Order: sequence, then C-alpha cells, then structure tokens
Amino acid sequence: MNEVLNKLHELGIVPVVVIDDAKDAIPLAKALIEGGLPCAEVTFRTAAAADAIKAIADNFPDMLVGAGTVLTTEQVDKAVAAGAKFIVSPGTNPKVVKYCVEKNIPITPGTCNPSDVEQALECGVNIVKFFPAEPAGGLKYIKAIAAPYVDVKFMPTGGINANNVRDYLAYNKIWACGGSWMVKGDLIKAGDFEKIKELTAEAVQIVKEVRG
Ligand code: 3PG
Repeated sequence: MNEVLNKLHELGIVPVVVIDDAKDAIPLAKALIEGGLPCAEVTFRTAAAADAIKAIADNFPDMLVGAGTVLTTEQVDKAVAAGAKFIVSPGTNPKVVKYCVEKNIPITPGTCNPSDVEQALECGVNIVKFFPAEPAGGLKYIKAIAAPYVDVKFMPTGGINANNVRDYLAYNKIWACGGSWMVKGDLIKAGDFEKIKELTAEAVQIVKEVRG
C-alpha cells in the first residue's frame, strides 16, 4: 500500500480547502498542523491552487498536501510540480486515473455507483473517493455498494461534518473522510485561523474517539 494513502488513513480526515488567495495557504497550513491534522486537499477550483500547494509544500515539507478537483492530466502535472503528494478527482476519468497510476502518483478518484467503482478497479485503484457522500445516499448507500467489492475502501466527501463523521469513521470500509467543515471559505477569508485550529482539533478528537 502506498505510504501517502496509508498516512491519509492514519489521519482519518482530509480537510478539503478552497483557497482564493495563495497568501492564506501558510497560516491555514499552520492552523491545520497546530490542530493536529497535517493534511490538506487544495482544490483546483481557484487560480490560486497551485501557488497555495507550492507555499505549503515549501514551508511545511512534512505536511500531506494534495490536489483536489483534478480534472485533467495537465492539472496532475501542475499539482505534482507544485508539490502535491496525492490527487483527488470528483469523478473517475480513466485517462486521469491511468496517468496517475502509471506515474505512481497516489490518486483517489471519485465514485458514486458500482460502475464508477469498477472503472476505478480496472485502472488499478481500490481506494476511491465517494462523492457527493450525503446527497448520494450517505453511509447506508456506501455500505450497500461496498458489499460486493470486498477489497475496496471509500473516502466519502460531500456533506460530512462534525455531527455525522463518527458514523462514517466507524465503518471499516471507510479509509478516511473528506470535508470542508473545519476549513470553510468564510473562515479563511476572515483570517479566522484560530477557529480553524479549534475545529480541526475537534475533528482530530473525533477520529481518536472512534478509532482509538
Ligand atoms: C469536495 O470538494 O469534495 C466536497 O465538495 C467537499 O464537500 P463539503 O464542502 O460538503 O465538505
């Protein structure tokens, strides 16, 4: 198993971040580290994503920084050049997944039905994102999908928060949970990194309680 993916499992929660201004990347990373979660999926939804990843990777080399919302192989290259250690995509695009697999870049592609899961398996990936987790049916639906795919682990993202993350984490097929609840855009914009640290520490505590 890949070391980076193992680390994601160990941490249990992957903060999903949208950064509009790369100058916020360093205080954000610091808040996550101080809160006990040295990890961030920086989404390629803003023009600042690559610069933000680079700032985090350069300043906090031990932090597990990855790129999210990666839709093309060009974005994979850009993310990895900036220092991304893993790639997350909302769907399972075989071209992007195979590209990462061939280059040994950890990728968790998004799935939300059995065909997506099989497509990911066909590309050689058995740890998949499950997106959008809550709107698609939540834990009950994941349990139903997981039954036939005995070796597949899921990383649900979308609608997960401090109130429902416990249930997800308690299921042994959940590799880790992704979510933005501790790194909401309004907190980043307001520069409220103390609150981010506090919500992060709370999330870490939940992982400890559930997984021991
Ligand atoms: C994602 O970017 O994968 C999700 O949109 C994050 O979902 P959340 O904001 O509901 O946590």
